[in-house]
Amino acid sequence: MKNPTETKSETAKPEASGTKKANGKLKIAAMGDLHIKEHGGNSYKELFSEISQAADILVLTGDLTDLGKPKEAEMLAADLRSCSIPVVGVLGNHDYECGHVDEVTAIIKDAGMHLLEGQAVEINGVGFAGVKGFAGGFGRHMLGSFGEPAIKAMVAESVEETMRLENALRQVRSERAMVVLHYAPIVETVEGEPKEIYCFLGSSRLAETIDRFPVSAVVHGHAHRGKYAGKTPGGAPVYNVASHVEKPTGKPYALIEL
Ligand SMILES: [Fe+2]
Ligand SMILES: [Fe+2]
Repeated sequence: MKNPTETKSETAKPEASGTKKANGKLKIAAMGDLHIKEHGGNSYKELFSEISQAADILVLTGDLTDLGKPKEAEMLAADLRSCSIPVVGVLGNHDYECGHVDEVTAIIKDAGMHLLEGQAVEINGVGFAGVKGFAGGFGRHMLGSFGEPAIKAMVAESVEETMRLENALRQVRSERAMVVLHYAPIVETVEGEPKEIYCFLGSSRLAETIDRFPVSAVVHGHAHRGKYAGKTPGGAPVYNVASHVEKPTGKPYALIEL
């Protein structure tokens, strides 16, 4: 894993400049939960090349693979060759399933994606701070660190991911910042899922951290049956961009201008 305090900076590839808006805003395509399966036959080549025309940057919010198999990551890497704009992203819980997360990470990074695990990257004046996040629940119903070691370990993991996000946000120098997550930071964008599983879909601890920084927008996935838009208690816009979620674009990806 890279140094969590590392910040990278780059300008978008020349192909992206043609789509950049005259008002200086950056057009960001964001999508999560691709769930690429080894034998699923789902290729993203066409969609990635369409997105390259429609946006300046592609942001992927985790669950890139279905079972975290290196073969699935290689399929994503091959599909990403059709993408001519910079790609920023985080992993999701599914990318951990097979226990090959280091290999999956290496394959995705080799494909040129800025995979964020508690770091920030600045592209064309927008800082992207990314972390997978974790479960734990929302508001006053958040899981507390009490009782069995297994429960305490779960809460500790949630807190640790939040601290990684804080480190990433401290590295952002640009005025415009986007937070990239897999798990949800607010309950509003998971609504539509069964109430019984809200606790496993995200954590308010992420929103508490986000609200301590000037964040322009937050994107996440994971809640396939959730709702597209919401806000943190501090007012930062939050978008659930899981490919299954209905969006204003009518496409599997959202378009957000920052
Ligand atoms: Fe998913
Ligand atoms: Fe997920």
